[in-house]
Amino acid sequence: MSENTIDQLNERLSERSSDQAINQPTEQCNKVDVKNLDLFYGDFQALKQINFSLNRGDVTALIGPSGCGKSTFLRTLNRMNDLIPDCRITGEVLLEGENIYNQIDVVDLRRRVGMVFQKPNPFNMSIFDNIAYGPRMQGLRDKRRTAELVENSLKKAAIWDEVKDRLKKQAHALSGGQQQRLCIARSIAMEPEIILMDEPTSALDPIATGRIEELIGELKKEFSIILVTHAMHQASRVSNKTAFFLLGEMVEYGSTGAVFTNPRDKRTEDYISGRFG
Ligand SMILES: Nc1ncnc2c1ncn2[C@@H]1O[C@H](COP(=O)(O)OP(=O)(O)O)[C@@H](O)[C@H]1O
Ligand SMILES: [Mg+2]
Repeated sequence: MSENTIDQLNERLSERSSDQAINQPTEQCNKVDVKNLDLFYGDFQALKQINFSLNRGDVTALIGPSGCGKSTFLRTLNRMNDLIPDCRITGEVLLEGENIYNQIDVVDLRRRVGMVFQKPNPFNMSIFDNIAYGPRMQGLRDKRRTAELVENSLKKAAIWDEVKDRLKKQAHALSGGQQQRLCIARSIAMEPEIILMDEPTSALDPIATGRIEELIGELKKEFSIILVTHAMHQASRVSNKTAFFLLGEMVEYGSTGAVFTNPRDKRTEDYISGRFG
């Protein structure tokens, strides 16, 4: 990254705080379009004919019983499944109209489509270095700019006040909830367009969970978010769209209000009313 790029990046990080940036009506294509996606692990078909689109600024919740393909689907969106032997996909995943399974720079794809995992996974280094690591790998050298980027990212992840006096301390010394916000800050530092979160609160206590949910409410002003959750109340609290998965199929996808109060498919109704799961 040249110093210019970093300047621009920092500027955008500090300025992009209004809804405006993501809701520009001038953009033609959706943020993400998935068309007829099938995914196989060897002979086993884990995703069946998925069609999906994500608009800028959406928070989409993926719900459904364990083993129905939610994490698998999430991984198709930044090609994390490339790392799984015997995994094969057909169909298309378009990011702003470009098929991410064509020859593209996968490192750049994963910068644009960041990921936060179920169990917080800070690197074994200081709080500061956790955030600076990715940008440094991309060429950031300037100390002052690095410090600004770290501060901005931690502020946006609502953890700055808790860590500003101990940036040199080990990230692993933080609580689980703080570690998860640190991981969100680490993702933000790369200036992603989309943040994928795979059950980001399932390892956290209710208070830490509430803070992450609040944070999602802030982050959606700048980033599109796709969140796997098995807590239905979480889906209804934080998302504006919900997709219900069952046995590798996306059975229903629509506005969260409609999916929860007036589902079109009997199987969705059965699931959200707790008849199975
Ligand atoms: N790496 C893998 N290799 C083979 N099968 C897998 C792999 N990951 C997931 N699966 C299978 O794919 C299905 C969907 O899994 P997953 O996407 O993890 O579901 P969910 O996140 O909804 O619980 C399950 O049957 C699971 O056993
Ligand atoms: Mg999963």
